[in-house]
Amino acid sequence: MSEQPSTRVLPHELPASLRGAGLDHWIREPLDDAVDRRRRIIMPPAAAMIGTPARDYQGALLAEAKHADTVFMMGDNPELPKMPERPCLKDFFLLRFGPIPRMHLLQSARVARENGLDEKVIMACLLHDIAIAGLLSANHGYWGAQLVAPYVDEEIAWAIEKHEALRYFPDETAGYAYPAAYIDYFGPDYRPPAYIQREAEAARRHRWYMTSRLVTINDIYSFDPATAVDFGEFEDVVGRHFRQPAEGLGFDGSPVAHMWRTMIWPNNLL
Ligand SMILES: [Fe+2]
Ligand SMILES: [Fe+2]
Repeated sequence: MSEQPSTRVLPHELPASLRGAGLDHWIREPLDDAVDRRRRIIMPPAAAMIGTPARDYQGALLAEAKHADTVFMMGDNPELPKMPERPCLKDFFLLRFGPIPRMHLLQSARVARENGLDEKVIMACLLHDIAIAGLLSANHGYWGAQLVAPYVDEEIAWAIEKHEALRYFPDETAGYAYPAAYIDYFGPDYRPPAYIQREAEAARRHRWYMTSRLVTINDIYSFDPATAVDFGEFEDVVGRHFRQPAEGLGFDGSPVAHMWRTMIWPNNLL
């Protein structure tokens, strides 16, 4: 989504060890206004590399840093929009999340509002896939719940955590069928692992079951690019249900501040 000029290093300027792997996308030329005119290498995090060919190139990327004009990416990546000093939830939506997850969250929250649901459910829908949008997809319900737990009602965080398990299990009486999209994603024969089944069974007996179930019911599986939803539609709900820290998300010293900082500077080497 960046409108800045690309800072990609041209492939022919790279050693063959990196060129062959297409890793030229991970080394950035400085933009004109960069502080020190040095190239910056992005090392993808382990969670993104394990099990992929990228892991074989860790050594080659490390070797690049030996050049005097090259360092690893730390701090602001010039390819990303700069975040304000004290970022709030809206800044992450607009400046960090990709267009598809951002619209998915906004559209789900809008459907929940159109269905006349409680503001807690609308808030949970707005946040339910926040980890997919900015952090990690695997176990996204749990990552997402932890991210927002210090700032929302306990019931909202619980609903976000449990939607991960509940979405695999239909509940006809509540009006939830197994999502057709999951047959595309995982195949018709996919069965969730035992721990997910246990989580879903426990969630079904919990007093907040319906809050999380409503997140799955209002989860929009088909992304409609024609329907644009503005974050401003939910400023009121966010104002009432999300305790924005004065120091900014990432800098309030909360147990999850590091997770927000990871979204501000996702390409830091360490
Ligand atoms: Fe989800
Ligand atoms: Fe979702």
